[in-house]
Amino acid sequence: MISWVSTLLFLCLLMAPLVTIQAEDINVGQELHQKNCLSCHQTKIYERTDRTVKTLKHLRSQVLFCAVNNDIEWFDEEIDDVTAYLNTFYYLFDMK
Ligand code: HEC
Repeated sequence: MISWVSTLLFLCLLMAPLVTIQAEDINVGQELHQKNCLSCHQTKIYERTDRTVKTLKHLRSQVLFCAVNNDIEWFDEEIDDVTAYLNTFYYLFDMK
């Protein structure tokens, strides 16, 4: 009985940081974007009427494409953070 409860508690403790790590951090994304992404295009490019990105998936691959092509070595989470930042402020696709 006791070991069952402590196993459950242990599992909860294990899961808690995982949940936080997985959530995209828009503030981190904004900072990364500010430092790395404004040398070629300003944020205007995200708001132009004929912008090329049409879906969230496409947005993520565009972020990855621009990062890779500029020797910016980001982890998946950083790509996700910047994607979430751009989506929240400019693209407004459904995040689900
Ligand atoms: C070396 C220059 C350069 C840098 C640095 C750069 N980009 Fe780009 N980016 C481009 C070019 C060129 C395009 C395509 C412009 C066009 O289609 O007219 C583009 C397009 C985009 C688009 C698509 C805009 C649309 O039409 O919807 C996104 C999103 C984007 N970049 C994100 C980023 C992000 C995020 C970074 C930082 C990792 C970044 N870019 C850094 C050159 C750059």
